[in-house]
Amino acid sequence: MSVRHFLSESDLTGDEFRAVIEAAIDIKKQWKSGKTRDTLRNRTLAMIFEKASTRTRTSFEAGMVQLGGHAINLSPNDSQLSRGEPITDTSRVMSEMVDAVMLRTNSHATQQEFASVSRIPVINGLSDRLHPCQLLADIQTCVELRGDVKGARIAWIGPGNNMCNSFINTAQLLDFTLAIACPDALRPDENLAGQHASHVEFCDTAATACQNADVVVTDVWASMGEEQDAAQYAELLRPYQVNQALLKQASKDAIFLHCLPAHRGEEVTAEVIDGPQSAVWQEAGNRLHAQKALLEFLLL
Ligand code: CP
Ligand code: NVA
Repeated sequence: MSVRHFLSESDLTGDEFRAVIEAAIDIKKQWKSGKTRDTLRNRTLAMIFEKASTRTRTSFEAGMVQLGGHAINLSPNDSQLSRGEPITDTSRVMSEMVDAVMLRTNSHATQQEFASVSRIPVINGLSDRLHPCQLLADIQTCVELRGDVKGARIAWIGPGNNMCNSFINTAQLLDFTLAIACPDALRPDENLAGQHASHVEFCDTAATACQNADVVVTDVWASMGEEQDAAQYAELLRPYQVNQALLKQASKDAIFLHCLPAHRGEEVTAEVIDGPQSAVWQEAGNRLHAQKALLEFLLL
């Protein structure tokens, strides 16, 4: 069978995505009860980060260790990538040496190029277009706290960025409705939204999107690489702040998610992110377990 990659949520079927989530919940329970697991003994994951990371780096590295394997961080600055070695040559070399590669890149095209010659699984640890590992953790959190997301209403409040695109993919895959409230100038990828139109609802206001929502999600106003547009985006996104009044529009037991890092007082108030409906720490912790399940799915 040819090698499987995880560059996009859509690289998995809905059943496979659900199976990874179920496995993640199980792996987490086992880990918390003190049981060890060495399914990836002697296996190595290489990680290449073109952008900063706290959660992705830590969770992949800790996850490999917890499964009996090992992770290597290859910063482009101190690898030959910074001196112009082609990404496809790097990929071919990785296929000779390690068992899987996780990439965080400025451009999604770099991931596709890397994967096109890879004989080992390639995992997208965030690109300008998608952040699929985050979606595994986010859905795991929803399932743990609210049950199956099939038929749920998830409100996306904020820019139509990589996280929003990933939620659009996942809405169709897992059959929930994604209610999006974003400024016209910051809409998500139109082709993607068009392809998944049956599961996406564009709303005129943040309050409309949140109406009866089971989950309310936001993200930073300016993503990594968009720093030069931060002031303009802040102006456009001010009416889309997730505050207590907005959260009140959602179902009364709705949960709040944010992939982090967060900017209190911008996209979300402290009252919400540090409040009783916030599930952001569980969500961040689930990166660890969801990715262990993903690594086992791709490697075993
Ligand atoms: N949510 C997330 O991917 O965080 P990092 O940028 O810290 O990896
Ligand atoms: N949209 C954010 C997510 C960070 C994890 C970014 O790309 O910077």
